[in-house]
Amino acid sequence: MAKILVTGGTGFIGSHTVVELINEGYEVIVLDNLYNSKEVVLDRIKTITNVRPKFYNCDILDKDGLRKVFSENKIDAVIHYAGYKAVGESVEKPLVYYQNNIAGSLNLYEVMNEFGVKTVVFSSSATVYGDPASLPIKEDFPLSTTNPYGTTKLFNERILEDIYASDNSWSILLLRYFNPIGAHKSGLLGETPIGIPNNLVPYIAQVATGQRDFLRVWGNDFDTVDGTGVRDYIHVVDLALGHIKAIEYALKHKGIEAINLGTGNGYSVLQVRQAFENACKKEIPYKIFDRRAGDIASCYADTTKAKELLKWQAKYGIDEMCQDGWNFSKNNPKGIE
Ligand code: NAD
Ligand code: UD1
Repeated sequence: MAKILVTGGTGFIGSHTVVELINEGYEVIVLDNLYNSKEVVLDRIKTITNVRPKFYNCDILDKDGLRKVFSENKIDAVIHYAGYKAVGESVEKPLVYYQNNIAGSLNLYEVMNEFGVKTVVFSSSATVYGDPASLPIKEDFPLSTTNPYGTTKLFNERILEDIYASDNSWSILLLRYFNPIGAHKSGLLGETPIGIPNNLVPYIAQVATGQRDFLRVWGNDFDTVDGTGVRDYIHVVDLALGHIKAIEYALKHKGIEAINLGTGNGYSVLQVRQAFENACKKEIPYKIFDRRAGDIASCYADTTKAKELLKWQAKYGIDEMCQDGWNFSKNNPKGIE
């Protein structure tokens, strides 16, 4: 089986993907600088899979550190998750975001090239579609961004397109995730937001665990089913399984493709709150506030390309996402420690 390097592999999506890669029989090398995750995640992966993957505490800004990883392991392909992801913070600290997400990625692609490793699956985001003119969103829609975080995703896509144009022996997948939520069924892996959660479901989870008093609903005057924002939430395990299909595809085909990973279904803020209430069997109090700057009314994926190319489609619905998310949050109210 192929040997896969997972950058950001102790993070939220990375850790779930490492589990599924091991389940499929891949040999996995995890690289992370532990900026937003803990080494104990590797023990939890071992509890689930019986395998503790080889780990490098390495920063992608450290090019020699990256060279060491590639010289010590015959890597076949890379799944690249390492990066910063807080939209608001990226507006305040654009240089930090460009440095980490762009300069770090450039180091990785350069070192991959040096070692002849030319297969990469990149974590992009539906944020690259900006405010879409119509729904569902297809991969060929126009791209634009509204914040530095989004711009780092779009720039990475452009950089990888240029790399492929210059050398078509590369195999590159740009996976555009919609809104990953939920957690591993075991309750051992999940998301640990830093500070006050920006994203909806981590915030609701903290209301459910008593850490916050009520949910702040950002606007109820959008043109949606109940006036609140609609998003395409996807179970993180489905997303991880999408990466398994992506790696299988990328190892067999040269080229570059952008592919949406979503369910194709949109749920409003109040619908998600209801599903989470059903899961935790508690009331989630809420208050309506003004719209959050930059928020769009609705966003959900056209999933045809993922089905056709990767033979993948999401199988979990919103109820399971909330049940598994709650199972993790109640067992780990302060996240993975
Ligand atoms: P995460 O923060 O849980 O995981 C990212 C990991 O990368 C962390 O463990 C962090 O320590 C590590 N990291 C950051 N900078 C690094 C560096 N310079 N060197 C080495 N490691 C570094 O985030 P996540 O939710 O798992 O997201 C993974 C990827 O998917 C990110 O690139 C993110 O932008 C992208 N993405 C996430 C979402 C989402 O909603 N979670 C949506 C779309 C795209
Ligand atoms: C946000 C990011 C996006 C990123 C995505 C996944 C912004 C503007 N966009 O998208 O770039 O790719 O996360 O990480 O930050 N909501 C509330 N109350 C809350 C939190 C959210 O009502 O406390 C609402 C929002 O207005 C939105 C929905 O819930 O309608 C989902 O919000 P969120 O989880 O932050 O995701 P996105 O806005 O889709």
